[in-house]
Amino acid sequence: MTHPLEELRDGALEEIAAAPNEQALETVRVHYLGRSGSISAWGERMKTLSKEERPVVGKLLNQARTAVSAAIEEAGEKLRAAQESGALTGLDISLPGTPNELGALHPLTQMLDRGIELFRRMGFALAEGPDIEDEWHCFDALNTAPDHPARNEADTFYLPDGRLLRTHTSTVQIRAMQAASPPIRVIAPGSAFRRDEIDATHSARFHQIEGLYVDEGVSVADLKGTLEFFLRELFGPGTAVRFRPHYFPFTEPSFEIDVKSKALKSGEKWIEVCGCGMVHPAVFEEVSRSRGDAAYDPEKWTGFAFGLGMDRLAMILFDIPDIRLFAQNDLRFLRQFA
Ligand code: DAH
Repeated sequence: MTHPLEELRDGALEEIAAAPNEQALETVRVHYLGRSGSISAWGERMKTLSKEERPVVGKLLNQARTAVSAAIEEAGEKLRAAQESGALTGLDISLPGTPNELGALHPLTQMLDRGIELFRRMGFALAEGPDIEDEWHCFDALNTAPDHPARNEADTFYLPDGRLLRTHTSTVQIRAMQAASPPIRVIAPGSAFRRDEIDATHSARFHQIEGLYVDEGVSVADLKGTLEFFLRELFGPGTAVRFRPHYFPFTEPSFEIDVKSKALKSGEKWIEVCGCGMVHPAVFEEVSRSRGDAAYDPEKWTGFAFGLGMDRLAMILFDIPDIRLFAQNDLRFLRQFA
């Protein structure tokens, strides 16, 4: 005759063999071996048995526990192994993978980085100012008369509160001088905005590197040497650099700089790349007035300033025919600079 414990054990083993997954297996385990499981219940029952029965049942109970636990363990391993190989059957390792595409810096960013690096080699520190400016920083402090055409609504983007999108990075000259006493040697790379008719060479937003160097005895020779070095490093030693007299309200004398190089697509043509000059005494005086001191005494200090058109430089250097390409986000264009 089989003992009820042996029947329980055999029933358990059958259910274990039939369990389709780990969850079902766990249900079987709890049912038989859990705290109130049917095999465990025999442990409680031992106390009520006679002295003669106890060792017999005890032995059966141990055997049943051991057999069922071992079967559960083994079945569990089999199920886990099956699950793992099942996960692999959906995988076709001959399929092409998902490419992880690498991004790259925008050509204008590359151009700005290159410019910044060159000026840093000459000891220029980085300065910053906001894109949204007030008229004073953009015009008044830069000795620009109230009736100057650049201040016209047709040329400049004004906000309803009277502030504006800076029309040049020259605003940062003023901010830098307000923040620090001379000597000062800074560059300010950034965006500028004008209400231009948009075409292949004009964009409502463009980029400049502004420069300012104020010290005792700074001269046009320093200005010339600095910018010639910069442009020859950028375009190659064979680059011709020309300074043309010009007018800016905030410099006197003022120049525009043109470059020409056979190595460039533009070949024999002079291309304008920069406005520059010696800081106008009226600029120093207005800065000192706003600071409330005489730090920028024009009798003591002189300085040069410049504004490089970085879109233009990038177009020359990378042979880009249309300024609008910079803002169109066309990957066919951008990939060429990756
Ligand atoms: N701000 C001028 C422009 O955007 C460029 C310029 C000219 C900057 C002369 C200067 C400068 O710092 O001295 O056209």
